[in-house]
This record gives sequence, structure tokens and C-alpha cells, in this order.
Amino acid sequence: MALYSEKVMDHFRNPRNVGVIEDADGVGEAGNPVCGDIMKIYLKIENDIINDVKFETFGCGSAIASSSMATELIKGKPISEAAELTNKAVTEALDGLPAVKLHCSVLAEEAIKAALKDYFDKNGIEYDHEKFAPHEDCAHCCETPESAAGKNCK
Ligand code: FES
Repeated sequence: MALYSEKVMDHFRNPRNVGVIEDADGVGEAGNPVCGDIMKIYLKIENDIINDVKFETFGCGSAIASSSMATELIKGKPISEAAELTNKAVTEALDGLPAVKLHCSVLAEEAIKAALKDYFDKNGIEYDHEKFAPHEDCAHCCETPESAAGKNCK
């Protein structure tokens, strides 16, 4: 069986929504402390709807495929729905990722949440801070004191 699904390969080879939105309403960044990969998400929001979304990812193929799929999943959707997007949903939409690559999809969820948080903060909108806290179950994030900094590691 192939290691990567056809969907992963498709989104890796032809990533959707790559780029920058200069006048974005929300910008968020997430980094993986272990591999050093970084993902940045730009959101254009109007009337609580995500009208446009772009990403820049300096990372592995799985991270690029995850960013591409995640942006497709939230484009045109209400921000309330985008806030609920999980790395699990991204992985499922990609027809799965190898277990060692699951953490790459966490970057997508975290970057989107960071961008929404930026939008809420800029506009004085109240939100549930718990929901936007860094991912708790990213095993790699809690491996070393350096990588655990700022995370909710037990
Ligand atoms: Fe770093 Fe995939 S190996 S995000």
C-alpha cells in the first residue's frame, strides 16, 4: 500500500491557496518545535465569513498537503465553523496520513486558530481562550523543555 494517499499527493503537488493576503484581517503562525517547520495562515473575513484564505508553509510534504486541505475546508465558511476545525478532520479529508506525520496536520489547526485569535484580538471580539490554547496532545511538542515552552504539557 502506498504510504501517502492520492489526496495527499494531489494537495502536495498542486497546493491550493498558496500565498499571502497583504491586507489580511487575521494572520496566524504555528511552528513545530521538533522539525522546525513553520506554517502561516492569512484570513480575509467579512460578516463572520472567511472570504479568502492563503497559506505559506516552510515544511514537509504532509504539512503542505495539510495546509492546502485545511484552507479548502474553511474557505467560504463561517468563522465559528473554522474555529472547530481539528487536525483529525484535516487528516480524514486527506484520506489519512502516516502515523509519524500526524503532527504535521496539527500545524494547520494551530495556524488557523492563531489567525482567528489575531482577528478576534484586533477587533475586540470575545472568545473562549481555552479553545485557542496551544494543542495539548502533540506528543512531539512536549518532548524537551525547550519545545514544551508555552505549551500545555503536563
Ligand atoms: Fe515538520 Fe511535517 S515534518 S511539519
